[in-house]
Amino acid sequence: MPLLGDVLPAPVMWSELFDDPDEVTTFPEEDAAVSRAVPKRQREYRTVRHCARLALGSLGVAPAPILSGPKREPLWPEGVVGAMTHCAGYRGAAVARWAEVRSVGIDAEPHQALPDGVQASVATDGETAQLARLAVSHPTVHWDRLLFCAKEATYKAWFPLTRTWLGFEDADIRMDPDTRTFTSTLLVPGPLVDGERLGSFTGRWTVDAGLVLTAIVVLPAA
Ligand SMILES: CC(C)(COP(=O)(O)OP(=O)(O)OC[C@H]1O[C@@H](n2cnc3c(N)ncnc32)[C@H](O)[C@@H]1OP(=O)(O)O)[C@@H](O)C(=O)NCCC(=O)NCCS
Repeated sequence: MPLLGDVLPAPVMWSELFDDPDEVTTFPEEDAAVSRAVPKRQREYRTVRHCARLALGSLGVAPAPILSGPKREPLWPEGVVGAMTHCAGYRGAAVARWAEVRSVGIDAEPHQALPDGVQASVATDGETAQLARLAVSHPTVHWDRLLFCAKEATYKAWFPLTRTWLGFEDADIRMDPDTRTFTSTLLVPGPLVDGERLGSFTGRWTVDAGLVLTAIVVLPAA
């Protein structure tokens, strides 16, 4: 079952892989950008960009290098928004035309409990209470990891709209176990989208194949 296809709406094109194929398209500029990285990082960097180019192809965008900006943000072709994620056993990319979508954030994580101490450093008091309730009502999901994953998707959706930092304490996430959606309420002034200030993002999540995946898609103001 495709993970990204489960959480992304139609205007967003996506591609995902669960390993690193031998044959992936790369560009010399990309190879240079990771030339000093460890082999694992080189593989995930190349594979996720291969995925991104497949998704961009579905938008009719010709293959081109996807380099990174000063805050590590992907530099998409003109008129395109998107996001990439990689973790053990997963690489995924999602892209859309700016005419149809204002921002995208995706994040994948292994479906495992967070390492000791991480939850305390990323969760607000309200989120901590929510995690305790969900652990009792829906014990098969690692809600702490899902919270972390939703926060990272929040940052990836936020950054292209603001070009500023957003800390883990700056958004309060509420997860709905029945609809597999979440709301990320911004605790700082939100970005202006088409002249309207966003107070929150809404997202979808899925758990499958030993992974948890979250996606936020910001549509144009109605
Ligand atoms: C940037 C960050 C979200 C990446 O998440 P991660 O789980 O470590 O790694 P992932 O594999 O899922 O994502 C990495 C990709 O994110 C993208 N990314 C990195 N910085 C980014 C930014 N500023 N804006 C948008 N996307 C960014 C890149 O495409 C990167 O892949 P690449 O280096 O191969 O190009 C994370 O490292 C981070 O800095 N988090 C702190 C900020 C945060 O999450 N705040 C919470 C707000 S509620």
